[in-house]
Amino acid sequence: MLKDAILERGKALNQDVLLVDSFLNHQVDVPLMKAIGEEFAKHFADKGLTRIVTIESSGIAPAAFTALAMGLPLVIMKKQTSKIMNGNLLQTTVCSFTKGTQYELTVKHEFLPAGEKILLIDDFLASGEAAFGVLNLVQQAGSEVCGVGIVIEKAFQSGHKRLVDMGMDVYSLARIASVSPDSIEFAD
Ligand code: G4P
Repeated sequence: MLKDAILERGKALNQDVLLVDSFLNHQVDVPLMKAIGEEFAKHFADKGLTRIVTIESSGIAPAAFTALAMGLPLVIMKKQTSKIMNGNLLQTTVCSFTKGTQYELTVKHEFLPAGEKILLIDDFLASGEAAFGVLNLVQQAGSEVCGVGIVIEKAFQSGHKRLVDMGMDVYSLARIASVSPDSIEFAD
């Protein structure tokens, strides 16, 4: 279902960026998100997980359906703080190569306590900076990331290798080998 959606509804912005705003980043294909959540739940069923974590905003839909399928709480890491976000905050700086932006990834410690077994779900894996930001906050919290579930991995960028080299269990539902205006090639 996901590969069909990518081929039929995905568009190459250039050789690095795949636009999927018709079903994942802007308009959301809810039945597809439900199937994605169920697939992640099946893959990570034996990990003894206690909590799902994602980063706002496009990770929320797949992460919510994963949390529903696994019967676990979902925590959304924030990219912006505000006056009403008080309490004991854990923070780290994340630089986005794709978007050329930088943000303070933030979570309240009470929603990411110590001793948790975390599954990170996100929409894209490129160079892995967002995932490393999450790993940093989970470590600060005294918890452990036990798996990383990615909807679309850009296999031509370094994120997958960097995470696997750290011993992470990374499960990407679609791995893109290359993007061009004429074709989208899968890695496997
Ligand atoms: P990294 O975390 O793996 O290093 O990725 P990078 O910094 O390069 O990119 C981070 C942001 O760019 C993420 O969005 C991610 O979803 C988005 N992104 C990366 N590659 C692509 C792509 O090929 N297509 C699309 N559509 N997005 C891509 P974000 O800043 O977290 O925004 P949001 O959409 O979650 O709000």
